[in-house]
Amino acid sequence: MRDSENAISIANLTKFYGRTQALDNISFTVKRGDFLAFLGPNGAGKTTTINIITGLSNYQSGTVKVFGHDVTKDYRNARRLIGLCTQDFNFDPFLNIFQLLVYQAGYFGIHSEDAKQRAREILKRFQLWDKAEVRYRALSGGMKKRLLLCRALIHEPEILILDEPTAGCDLELKFLIWDHLAQLNKEGKTIFLTTHYMEEAERLTKTIGIIDHGRMMCLGPKEEVLRNKSLQDVFMEITGIE
Ligand SMILES: Nc1ncnc2c1ncn2[C@@H]1O[C@H](COP(=O)(O)OP(=O)(O)OP(=O)(O)O)[C@@H](O)[C@H]1O
Ligand SMILES: [Mg+2]
Repeated sequence: MRDSENAISIANLTKFYGRTQALDNISFTVKRGDFLAFLGPNGAGKTTTINIITGLSNYQSGTVKVFGHDVTKDYRNARRLIGLCTQDFNFDPFLNIFQLLVYQAGYFGIHSEDAKQRAREILKRFQLWDKAEVRYRALSGGMKKRLLLCRALIHEPEILILDEPTAGCDLELKFLIWDHLAQLNKEGKTIFLTTHYMEEAERLTKTIGIIDHGRMMCLGPKEEVLRNKSLQDVFMEITGIE
């Protein structure tokens, strides 16, 4: 397989924060068009992995590539292929949500008129167009979650990475986000999400990867991973459900 068929390739990645080892020689690949749930208990190394893939964090050894672009040596090309949905609402409080998206597009070199056109389209798609001129604080929790998706998608990335996209959501909002993600994957986006909800992984994804104490426990087709009895203890630790 050509490397560019792999949306994300990670080889022998090790990361320390001071003396704390967050990642211990992890290796895995995510294929183009896949929908991966990256599961693991608190402190397992999920956000650290996302931060490295998106260039927000450095690492001590290993290689990380996005469609063949090294995230360190070829940062710009790697980063433009990724849309990141952070766990927190880290929006500029002084911009209205239309401006927010236009500015975000600007970071990826998209010209103002194109950026405005895309912002209009994406706000309409996620039913936020009537809120275009308000600041994000005036949105409901569910609207803010949808705005995170809009911001991640504004530069039309190939890969969508989401850090616990439904944490703290009520059922209705969870279903709404799941529908959007299923649709985006159907349209060809590669999706990588972290979650503590087994139901989310079971319903939505094609592939499950499990990380624990900075080590990859497994990665494979969903059905195979869920059948693997030796992982039951890890599932319990992740979800708290026996
Ligand atoms: N900025 C940091 N400085 C020092 N240590 C950190 C930092 N960020 C994470 N760590 C440590 O690295 C390890 C992995 O943390 P990480 O945030 O990647 O876990 P996680 O799997 O995302 O957990 P959670 O499910 O709680 O979000 C933990 O031991 C954590 O304490
Ligand atoms: Mg995390």
